[in-house]
Amino acid sequence: MSTVEFRNASRIYDNTRPPAVNRINLSIADGEFLVLVGPSGCGKSTTLRMLAGLEPIDEGSIFIDDVDVSEVPARKRDTAMVFQSYALYPNMTARQNMAFALENAKVPKAEIAQKVENAAKMLELGPLLDVKPGNMSGGQRQRVAMGRAIVRSPKVFCMDEPLSNLDAKLRVATRGQIAALQRSLGVTTVYVTHDQTEAMTMGDRVCVLKDGVIQQVDEPTHLYEHPGNTFVAGFIGSPSITLMDGVSLEEGRAVIGEGHTVDLGIERELATRAKGPRVTVGVRPEAWDIVGSSANPVPDALPLRAGLIEHLGSEAFVYCDAIMTPDSPVTVRGQRVVLRADKRQPITTGETLYARPRFGECYFFDPESETNLEYVA
Ligand SMILES: Nc1ncnc2c1ncn2[C@@H]1O[C@H](COP(=O)(O)OP(=O)(O)O)[C@@H](O)[C@H]1O
Ligand SMILES: [Mg+2]
Repeated sequence: MSTVEFRNASRIYDNTRPPAVNRINLSIADGEFLVLVGPSGCGKSTTLRMLAGLEPIDEGSIFIDDVDVSEVPARKRDTAMVFQSYALYPNMTARQNMAFALENAKVPKAEIAQKVENAAKMLELGPLLDVKPGNMSGGQRQRVAMGRAIVRSPKVFCMDEPLSNLDAKLRVATRGQIAALQRSLGVTTVYVTHDQTEAMTMGDRVCVLKDGVIQQVDEPTHLYEHPGNTFVAGFIGSPSITLMDGVSLEEGRAVIGEGHTVDLGIERELATRAKGPRVTVGVRPEAWDIVGSSANPVPDALPLRAGLIEHLGSEAFVYCDAIMTPDSPVTVRGQRVVLRADKRQPITTGETLYARPRFGECYFFDPESETNLEYVA
């Protein structure tokens, strides 16, 4: 039984700059698989290292099982770290690498052998136990690094981008294996990745970080369907959401250009939470309907020029440029609108399309705070 709690925990490397980890509050349940996700440099590794005791806590505290471990040295915290680089000893076999920490802890030899055998079986490492890392593939090394953490039966697994060195196909297979393994072991796990797909597919809950500050902690589907702000909306989901600034709401209808109105299905109650007359609207690729083309232009829709078309077999993503009239109050961030199209719908690069956000599937954000209006009181 192991819970983890960050209470106002900060890490300040440099007093002249904002904290790398800024007053984090996060409670992780016993046996939970929590993923920390965010862009490079947002403080994921630092947060994890603070938990493992590899980085001091400059403000606040961290509790494991309701015990303040802020001043407890790493080796006494009973956490096991899996690094991106694996950090295996090159001159030791898989067996020796996995046994090393237990030998240091003076665990009886028979018990070590048993634990190593068990972990090897779980990870299908049996035939590799007497092989050194230099003679293994990346995936095999990754499993040895996992095995080394498992044999210690720690209170918490701390994993820092453990799949980043694997090729794409192996990464997909391994993420499923790690998630299944964690669930069968039931060990509380904090898993760091910059990859939102990994976060979404592996985590019980996902914590999104930006500039050392927690943006949102939620279950994956909830994060996708109810992003707290434009950052989370943009970070979670691939291809990412289109954000349109300066949309004015008139009786719940959005004005996107001169005489150009689209009914976005915003609930009246939600619309009243907007502080000003304009909002930022988010539309995911699957929430657009393509309603017209240059041969068949339609009013009250957004004109787009189709650019790159990504055919994925079952569907296609069309990366478009928004064609905004000079008088339009609306600006599309990055000028870019991504649509998901049916594979049967013939679209060619360069053609003009007309698209409408699907009724009731848009997100509305306060333009100042960038907060989703769902979360505005
Ligand atoms: N040892 C260090 N000394 C000074 N600054 C650091 C150190 N480690 C990380 N940082 C800074 O702290 C911030 C967060 O880094 P990090 O936790 O490694 O981010 P992430 O793992 O999300 O990429 C970055 O701005 C990084 O430059
Ligand atoms: Mg990192």
